[in-house]
Amino acid sequence: IHVAVLMGGWSNERPVSLMSGNGVADALEKGGYRVTRVDMGRDIAAVLSELKPNVVFNALHGVPGEDGRVQGMLDLMGIPYTHSDMVTSVIAIDKELTKQRLVPAGIPMPKGVVVDTDSLFAADPVPRPYVLKPLNEGSSVGVAIVTQDGNYGMPISRDAAGPWQDFDVLLAEPFIKGRELTCAVLGGKALCVTELKPKSGFYDFDAKYTDGLTDHICPAEIPADIEAYMMDLALRCHQLLGCKGASRTDFRWDDELGMDGVFVLETNTQPGMTPLSLVPEQAKQVGISYEELVHRIVQEALE
Ligand code: DAL
Ligand code: MG
Repeated sequence: IHVAVLMGGWSNERPVSLMSGNGVADALEKGGYRVTRVDMGRDIAAVLSELKPNVVFNALHGVPGEDGRVQGMLDLMGIPYTHSDMVTSVIAIDKELTKQRLVPAGIPMPKGVVVDTDSLFAADPVPRPYVLKPLNEGSSVGVAIVTQDGNYGMPISRDAAGPWQDFDVLLAEPFIKGRELTCAVLGGKALCVTELKPKSGFYDFDAKYTDGLTDHICPAEIPADIEAYMMDLALRCHQLLGCKGASRTDFRWDDELGMDGVFVLETNTQPGMTPLSLVPEQAKQVGISYEELVHRIVQEALE
């Protein structure tokens, strides 16, 4: 079976995608697949027409590999691909559209507001402390926490450094104090829950991808009922959004509030597959090697 592994691209998560894609390609080669590594450029359709792979392993992160555009192109070309389809991707990449789909179904999520940056300078959109995030980025790109004293000491103003310099519209959500957790779904089952403990600040881009900056507690040391609740929520989010292959749902938990303190932040349809990534780590925890993980994702795409 000839697998084209799509990676790179031009999103802010390009370096992460190259790590994911090369890891996946190495594992598929070990598993006996014929593999072509494709660093996605604007000529992707022509490249794939030439290659004629049996299946695409989508290892792209961010726009346009995670927002449905690449998926739509592959649908029209008749090439099967891993992970979620176009419609699911369009919804899941957008943190506000995701809420519109999940909250009415009973998934607990922070009550956010979408703000344009001009109104942000005029007044806080929700009481401090709150989190500002772009609607469709990943890996914490452009995320800032606005505390009582400002964004880690910086006031929100047009001149201060912050995500408002790069994005016209942002999502503002109340900051959920407490703990950062995540749960992957693979093959229609939640794997386990991991707690992320960054050694300083929050679980931002550097804390995610620099070895040693964040402790991963897998499985998380949390009460069994909270763990079961999170695994059920991750599975329900996966199903409500119509995800395929692997997904990963991220949580905050205010542990002083027990069950009522559990909040889903988002579901990632193209979760990272780098050596420090969480889905491979959880798969390993439940006895699925990295090679087996990528094999299963490819097989599901070919079903
Ligand atoms: N956006 C990154 C790759 C993740 O969700 O793992
Ligand atoms: Mg994300």
